[in-house]
Amino acid sequence: MAKIALLGYGTVGSGVAEVLHKNAASIARKAAEEITIKYILDMREFPDDPFGDLVVHDFSIIEQDPEIAVVVECIGGATVALDYVRRALLAGKDVVTSNKELVATHGHELLMIAKQKSLNFLFEASVGGGIPILRPLTSCLAANDLTEICGILNGTTNFILTKMFKEGKPFDEVLKIAQEKGYAERNPAADIEGTDACRKICILAALAFGRHVYPEQVPTTGITAITGTDVAFAAESGMTVKLLGRAIRREDGKICAYVAPHFVPLDNQLANVEDVFNGIVVCGDAIGDVMFYGRGAGKLPTASAVVADVIDATKHHSTKKFLDWAEGGPDVVADMAALPMRWFIRTTESLLRIGKCFGDAEVMSRVIDGQVGFFTPKMPKCRVDEILSGGFSAAAPIPILA
Ligand code: HSE
Repeated sequence: MAKIALLGYGTVGSGVAEVLHKNAASIARKAAEEITIKYILDMREFPDDPFGDLVVHDFSIIEQDPEIAVVVECIGGATVALDYVRRALLAGKDVVTSNKELVATHGHELLMIAKQKSLNFLFEASVGGGIPILRPLTSCLAANDLTEICGILNGTTNFILTKMFKEGKPFDEVLKIAQEKGYAERNPAADIEGTDACRKICILAALAFGRHVYPEQVPTTGITAITGTDVAFAAESGMTVKLLGRAIRREDGKICAYVAPHFVPLDNQLANVEDVFNGIVVCGDAIGDVMFYGRGAGKLPTASAVVADVIDATKHHSTKKFLDWAEGGPDVVADMAALPMRWFIRTTESLLRIGKCFGDAEVMSRVIDGQVGFFTPKMPKCRVDEILSGGFSAAAPIPILA
């Protein structure tokens, strides 16, 4: 029998306990032994919960218990969680985590400790919620030189944008529903400001391209500035608005990664990824495009990925395959501002000025909320910024997914 400890009994932690309990028999068959929770570490008590008597408040009980084979970290953040995960690995325990902040900021270090100690450090649930993406990326697509990853990586913002687009609901109302459904981070600023998607594209880029990409190296724009006017312009032009994380490997080997809301043509496969669903397109030189799709947030979908990692860690305690990436650095990334793209811009400037500043712009015939919308020719963001800071008054430009 494998005994595990759960760190954190919030949305994900309680989902993990629920799935382990509900599917105990089939999980035992797949892991080749029974998996039981021995401890739940949380600051709170849960007197009415079926697992309430497993609650402890001191991590050293778990750290010092030789019976604990796997520690499952669902606390979130990179302070206490980092300390506990480091200590768990150093104490010889496999670690499974759903914590994208931890992996995006300290993944290289933790993978190195796991490797030195010959332990599993698994984090499938950190990207895409319940979608299998990290294993396929590193195993099934291993034959490819990967060139690009582009995806809807945050369920909360996709839920908000879908409701704004399809039902014309206001931003704040939909955010509240996403929080009630357990999709949003404890501080939903991480969702709506794009930080969560940024951490996820860092993890994907590191696994795909082999070097750590740090969140501070990834220019990130969330959806807080997206208005009903943008959504109406998108609909008018046969597109929708999606928050995308992208990581592109350039020919010189540098990685250009960023997060931003995009206009996405309705015939693009990502346009049809709605509500809390995530969609991730991976491009490889042998396979072309592959798309991964499924529920990107929520208690049970995330628990599904965590428990699969627990089964893997249990089954492969002595035959593990290490995930790996090398340290990052300033030489790893390229500036996304140099990437040529088409941009949607809305403005109150005259057609004459649009033509003068942007040349061959495609101007939309319908005026919405007193503004004109237009699409620029392909140009790098640094050039668009130059024009806007030179006195062309406009809302923040939104890139078009080609
Ligand atoms: N808040 C995250 C999201 C949870 O909405 O995608 C899953 O990582």
